[in-house]
Amino acid sequence: MQYRTLGKTGLKVSALGFGCGAVGGLLVKGEYQKMVRAVARAVDLGVNYFDTARIYGDGQSETNLGLVLEELAPDVVVGTKVRLTGEDMQHIERAVVDSVEGSLTRLRRERLDLIQLHNGVGFRSQPDRGVVGIDDLEPVMHTFQSLAEQGKVRFWGINGLGDTEALHQAVSIGGAQTVQTCYNLINPTAGTRVPEGFPFQNYGQLIDLAADNQMGVIAIRVLAAGALSGTPHRHPVAMPSVSPIASGGDYAEDVERSKAFAFLIDEGYTSNLVEAAIRFAISKAEISTALVGVSSLEQLEQAVECAQKGPLSSEALSRLHDIWALARDWGAGN
Ligand SMILES: NC(=O)c1ccc[n+]([C@@H]2O[C@H](COP(=O)([O-])OP(=O)(O)OC[C@H]3O[C@@H](n4cnc5c(N)ncnc54)[C@H](OP(=O)(O)O)[C@@H]3O)[C@@H](O)[C@H]2O)c1
Repeated sequence: MQYRTLGKTGLKVSALGFGCGAVGGLLVKGEYQKMVRAVARAVDLGVNYFDTARIYGDGQSETNLGLVLEELAPDVVVGTKVRLTGEDMQHIERAVVDSVEGSLTRLRRERLDLIQLHNGVGFRSQPDRGVVGIDDLEPVMHTFQSLAEQGKVRFWGINGLGDTEALHQAVSIGGAQTVQTCYNLINPTAGTRVPEGFPFQNYGQLIDLAADNQMGVIAIRVLAAGALSGTPHRHPVAMPSVSPIASGGDYAEDVERSKAFAFLIDEGYTSNLVEAAIRFAISKAEISTALVGVSSLEQLEQAVECAQKGPLSSEALSRLHDIWALARDWGAGN
C-alpha cells in the first residue's frame, strides 16, 4: 500500500481509505463479525484511514466502528463529521461540541484524529438546504480549534461540496487542514480541466487549490456510489437507492455513462471498471486518500488489489480527455 501525507496534518494515510458510510453499508447494516473481518483484513493490507460520520446510520457507523476498533486495537487514523441542522446554525459552538462529544462516546476514543464539517458550503447559509455560509465557517473552525486545544480532536476539515466559488474561497481562507472532494471518471472536475459545456458541476480543480494550500485531500464518490461498477444491482447491505453527487440525474444514468469508459478494458489498460475508477482516483497525486465505500470483505479486497496496481498509465489518462470532450452530449443531470 502506498502512503501519502494528509496535507499539513503530517499524518501518513493509505492511498486507499475505508468508507464506513451507508452507501457501501457494511459498517452500518452488516453483520458484526463481517465488519470485524473486513476491518482486520483492511488493516492487514495496509489501509489506515477510516472515514465515518455522525449521520451514517444515525450513529450506527460510529458505534460499529468504535466496537470493531476497540476489539482489534489497530494503529489507524479515524475521521468523522458533524452536520449542523438549520436549528444548530443558531448556536454553532454548542452544536459542534455536542456532536463531537457524541462521536467520541460512540467511537470509544479519547480523541478524534480528524473532525470534518459535513455540510456543504455556500456564500450564504441556507439552513433549509443544510448549506453553511462562509461567515459561519469561522465559528465552526474556531470551535474545532478549541476542541483541539482541549485534546478532544487533533485536526479538522471541511466538506468540498456546495457552491464552487464559495468552496474556493473557503479553501483559500485556510482555516482547515483537510477537505473531502468528489472525484471520479464521470465528474473529474475537482482535479482535471474539462472543456466548455461539461454537463455537471465544475469544481474548478478544487483538489489542486487545496493542495496548493497544503490541505489534505480525501476523495469521495470514487466509484460514483457504485455506478462505476457498471451494473445497477446493489449489494444487500448497501443503500438501496442512492442519489448521485454532481453527476447524472439518477444512479441508472451514471451506470449508463460508465459505459463510456469501457475502452479502458477493451484496450487492455485495466481489467474492469472498478479497477479503472480506483486507479484513476489514485493517479491524482494531490489526493491523500481515495475512499471506497464497501459492502463486503470481497469488495474491500478487490479495491485494495486495484489500488496496489498504482496509477493509470499516462496514455490511458490522456485518452480520458477524449471522453470528457464528448461529455456535453451526455446531458446535464444535476
Ligand atoms: N463528505 C461527504 O459528504 C461524503 C459523501 C459521500 C461519501 N463520503 C465518504 O465516502 C465513502 C465512500 O462512499 P461513496 O458514497 O463515495 O461511494 P463509492 O465509494 O463511490 O461507492 C461505493 C459503492 O461501490 C460499490 N463497490 C465498492 N467496491 C466495489 C468492488 N470492489 N466491486 C464492485 N463494486 C464495488 C458498492 O456498490 P454495491 O454495494 O451496490 O455493490 C458500494 O456501495 C463513504 O463511506 C463516506 O465515508 C463522504
